[in-house]
Amino acid sequence: MSMEATAWTQLHNVMNAQADRRPFDRNTLRRIAAFARPHRRRVALFLVLSVATALLAVATPVLAGRVVNAIVTGEDGGTVTRLSLLIAVIAVAEAALGLVGRWLSANLGEGLILDLRTAVFDHVQRMPIAFFTRTRTGALVSRLNNDVIGAQRAFSNTLSGVVSNVVTLLLTLGVMLSISWQITALALVLLPVFVLPARRMGTRMARLQREAAAHNAAMGTRMTERFSAPGATLIKLFGRPADESAEFAARAGRVRDIGVRTAMAQSAFITALTLVSALALALVYGLGGFYALRGQLDAGAVVSLALLLTRLYAPLTALAGARVEVMSALVSFERVFEVLDLKPLIEEKPDARTIPEGPVSVEFDDVRFGYPSADKVSLASLEDVAALDTRGGSEVLRGVSFRAEPGRTVALVGSSGAGKSTIAQLLPRLYDTDEGSVRIGGIDVRDLSADTLRDTLGMVTQDGHLFHESVRANLLLARPESTEEDLWDALRRSRLDGLVASLPDGLDTVVGERGYRLSGGERQRLTIARLLLARQRVVILDEATAHLDNTSEAAVQEALTEALAGRTAVVIAHRLSTVRAADLILVVEDGQIVERGTHEELLAAGGRYEELYTTQFENPGTQAAELG
Ligand SMILES: Nc1ncnc2c1ncn2[C@@H]1O[C@H](COP(=O)(O)OP(=O)(O)OP(=O)(O)O)[C@@H](O)[C@H]1O
Ligand SMILES: [Mg+2]
Repeated sequence: MSMEATAWTQLHNVMNAQADRRPFDRNTLRRIAAFARPHRRRVALFLVLSVATALLAVATPVLAGRVVNAIVTGEDGGTVTRLSLLIAVIAVAEAALGLVGRWLSANLGEGLILDLRTAVFDHVQRMPIAFFTRTRTGALVSRLNNDVIGAQRAFSNTLSGVVSNVVTLLLTLGVMLSISWQITALALVLLPVFVLPARRMGTRMARLQREAAAHNAAMGTRMTERFSAPGATLIKLFGRPADESAEFAARAGRVRDIGVRTAMAQSAFITALTLVSALALALVYGLGGFYALRGQLDAGAVVSLALLLTRLYAPLTALAGARVEVMSALVSFERVFEVLDLKPLIEEKPDARTIPEGPVSVEFDDVRFGYPSADKVSLASLEDVAALDTRGGSEVLRGVSFRAEPGRTVALVGSSGAGKSTIAQLLPRLYDTDEGSVRIGGIDVRDLSADTLRDTLGMVTQDGHLFHESVRANLLLARPESTEEDLWDALRRSRLDGLVASLPDGLDTVVGERGYRLSGGERQRLTIARLLLARQRVVILDEATAHLDNTSEAAVQEALTEALAGRTAVVIAHRLSTVRAADLILVVEDGQIVERGTHEELLAAGGRYEELYTTQFENPGTQAAELG
């Protein structure tokens, strides 16, 4: 490794790790070992290679000394030729071993990234919805990218940096001491002159680097949030673009300043290193020359010492930062493990059941529920808060009981915030109840397998999310094996076939981020088409509260009728037409069901339902308005 490259690594390490002077964590080490275990043969091979490379590296200076001696003593030309040929062979071997070593360490490092990444991705996918509602996507993505890469870099740096440097250093020092211990000792005395100020400067740089990282992260999250279609819309409508830009520019400016200072510090460091080793070299020549003149040392030994010295400073400086390097490796690994350690609150039981064929009922039995507190589901570092909220959410559902008979439709109505969407989310186990139980076909949803739940239950959420992919990809999510015909059939039944046929690329038209290139009603019908395609036995519809014009209203209504036919349905209704068609209407207020019955019964009773009806539904012009 060149001296300059080592100096960079050294400074980088000093800068990165000052903050984390935590004691070694045995457990972390054990888990890293577990991740490295599948690669152990490559690790072993790498260690063997490191030793071989180090041996070759000390051989050349020693041979060069021999050449000088051969010249001085005036031996025959054969020796000189043989020695220089040997030096050439060693150079070639060193180059070859270097390449193989690099190949090995790249393979190790990238393999480790792959293992860690897939592990984190798998794990995050299994996290409950509560986790995602709290986590800043930007922070999570950065954990998946930066820390995984940090862990990998630290791992392979430790391997190649520490291991091969220790071997090189020991060998070089050993050979130097055997040539002349006095000169070796004097040459080493200069070292602290350079290492100590570098450490002090490192601390300052570390602070700056952390500040820059924080600014970069803040700019990153801001961009992901502001540059999504809904975020950008919000800024256009309410934001102050000039202020946003000014804040962004201020952060970016600070990052530039830190960048310049870091660059200057790095070159100062390298200059100092070059200077100190040049001074040490002068010392070797001066002192060695003096000894040689007095006949205590031969000329070849002086040359060997000088050459060995140039190979001594690089591993020495690298090792000065080694502890720090190991520490930062541990920190990156810990940050990754922290995510892997989050327990998914909602997991499939080992003996999970399936639901028998045929229409099924849906039942809520005295269900009580509060949204879980942050410390149960999330990490402070992913929420961008200093400490997690430990307050349990207040109870949102307070004893909800009802039963939807097989093939029947139950409509939930009530004020905004009453708990309707919450009820809907308990069915597919996006959350688990605190007390009471939710049953499908008489079986508690907690006893069902995740596959069964997905196959039995379809849901259209209030915001009708679409991925930034083609119409086809968005539909296939529901049933990957669907044929072209199935797709068009679902589109026809959700009254979207005309629209999709008229799109430039038909089914392959990309719908734009979150479906923002479709109208509210079209987006809703596309989510209904997805539901129709999946053909689940139970459907949950959280009607979008968007105001629709009469044509889309009618189209959505037809699509809904198709979706509900013959299925058990729980519909959160914001439209009179849906409410009327329901077999049972439940009025939800403040987490409880306050009234239940058919449209006629409830109207006749003259309670909360009648109130909602007269304020929201009576005037046909506001039919589509949100109920509540
Ligand atoms: N993820 C969440 N974490 C914590 N509290 C939540 C969460 N989602 C909803 N709430 C709270 O739970 C209560 C019920 O919300 P819910 O979404 O069920 O209302 P809703 O009846 O569907 O209202 P709307 O008609 O406006 O959609 C509200 O007070 C809300 O603030
Ligand atoms: Mg809702």
